[in-house]
Amino acid sequence: LADGPLKGRRILVTSGPTHEPIDPVRYIANRSSGAQGTALARALAALGAEVVFVTGPADVPPPDGVEVIAVQTAQQMKEAVEAALPADAAVFAAAVADWRVSSASDRKLKKTKDGLPVLEFAENPDILHGVSQMKQGRPPLVVGFAAETNDVLENATAKRLRKGCDWIVANDVSPATGIMGGAENAVTLISDAGAEEWPRMGKDAVAQKLAARIASAINT
Ligand code: C5P
Repeated sequence: LADGPLKGRRILVTSGPTHEPIDPVRYIANRSSGAQGTALARALAALGAEVVFVTGPADVPPPDGVEVIAVQTAQQMKEAVEAALPADAAVFAAAVADWRVSSASDRKLKKTKDGLPVLEFAENPDILHGVSQMKQGRPPLVVGFAAETNDVLENATAKRLRKGCDWIVANDVSPATGIMGGAENAVTLISDAGAEEWPRMGKDAVAQKLAARIASAINT
């Protein structure tokens, strides 16, 4: 483990999408490369943190020097998060699917002349909400992400209160920004103290700035 201001601190990071099976060969998911969560885990480890990295199937490989827990579904992610606690901070960068197929088929669905398959959905657990509301053992700093396509500040501010997390990192993922799947990000950090708009920069730079902010919050 590196030397740095987060030495001796345990930090949980979720990242990537979740895959919710329809049948053994098909799934539903949110679009997420895992790039920002991976960069953040790397930046936290570089500051000395012991990082537990709970990741869905991402496009980018996990960083070195972190404990990787690979999961597929939201339910598995929730269990992995609960098993990883306690932690000094928890950052939820994963793009968790809001719904799962309530009774996924254990056989591949076939095309038939009798019509199209009808999928029924069940709501997935909201992992960030659950951890934010913990009565006992809640990490002292809980950070969520809000990917919005419109009214970013308004939606993200409401989301912070609804979830009960300490900070929300809000970003505009409307297609014109090129942020989703891209190398850059433009975020607004929302906390008790208000909203702070950061200039557009590389996802690595966002990660380093956020890791530094987490270090100073934990150490004060
Ligand atoms: O509600 P929404 O999905 O927009 O909230 C985004 C934030 O909540 C992200 O930090 C995401 O990781 C987290 N989340 C979660 N579990 C869910 C849905 C979202 O932890 N089921």
